[in-house]
Amino acid sequence: MPEGRYAVLMDVDTGHDDAFAVLLAARHVDLLGITTVSGNAPLPDTTANTLKVLELAGLSHVPVAAGMDRPLVAPPRHAPAIHGRSGLDGPELPAPRAAPDPRHGVLFMIETVRAHPGCWIVATGPLTNVAVALRQAPDLKTRLAGISLMGGSTAGGNSTAAAEFNIYFDPEAAAVVFESGVPIRMVGLNLTRQALVLDPEVARIRAVGSRLCTVAAELLDFYNRTAREVFGRPGGLLHDPCAVAWMIDPTLVEFQPMHVAVELTGARTRGMTVCDYRFERGTPDRLRGHAGIEAGQAPNAEVGMRLDRDRFFDLLIATLASYR
Ligand code: BDR
Ligand code: CA
Repeated sequence: MPEGRYAVLMDVDTGHDDAFAVLLAARHVDLLGITTVSGNAPLPDTTANTLKVLELAGLSHVPVAAGMDRPLVAPPRHAPAIHGRSGLDGPELPAPRAAPDPRHGVLFMIETVRAHPGCWIVATGPLTNVAVALRQAPDLKTRLAGISLMGGSTAGGNSTAAAEFNIYFDPEAAAVVFESGVPIRMVGLNLTRQALVLDPEVARIRAVGSRLCTVAAELLDFYNRTAREVFGRPGGLLHDPCAVAWMIDPTLVEFQPMHVAVELTGARTRGMTVCDYRFERGTPDRLRGHAGIEAGQAPNAEVGMRLDRDRFFDLLIATLASYR
């Protein structure tokens, strides 16, 4: 992985936790722009939410382009139970002064990556835009340094028992991305379950007293309430900032290489990421030639396994406090 500051195009379906990912990225990476995708809410809402978050943070110069308004094959299944009807319910957010970039998000993604070879995509929503861009412009595969995505899980889902929301929303797109050959860092539910945000963190954010931190605390009040109602958990999971955090401090997330395949046909497992972590390090060669053991495929992703929770929240809260 490269040393120093990363150049990043974000692809989001903003979303409470996407909002925190954007705020984290804008302070610590070279944010080339943002594309939006249908996911937590319909595309017009995820685009408006993204523009509002940027307005709140004084980042309205960051270009935002609206991308795919539905999954490749599956019917769209948004997440109002978690994020509210707008996708970002809770406090009133400022009306954005900036309009979206006139280009389609997929074209914006293609042109941005071509103009910045060696950049990363950080994808915190369904992978529809990324898949279509890779299909339309296969040269992106060699121009990208990698894709850091929030999605999938080594163990259990949230949309279904087996599947995580971003992958379940558009499994066909996820399969294109995992099979693309682009280096992938997958931050899945198994990792983001460690990013549980509790009342003490919300209180620390509120105590900063700035406008942005007050709004951020109110967003978390809403998000934690729905997490309690829907999942019976004491707080929400800040999934999406984890896909950015490792770029800022590589010691925050421990990754393990493995082969990840997306299940497209299972009656109960559609959208599941089948993660082969039968070998701890290296190649699957050691699996060959043993009765009763199917050989695996070479790793196509580095998968987040452990998060340093306390230091992750220290970074996030210090970053939120830096917006005045
Ligand atoms: C993912 O689904 C969305 O609701 C969140 O924003 C996150 O990207 C977690 O499964
Ligand atoms: Ca998201």
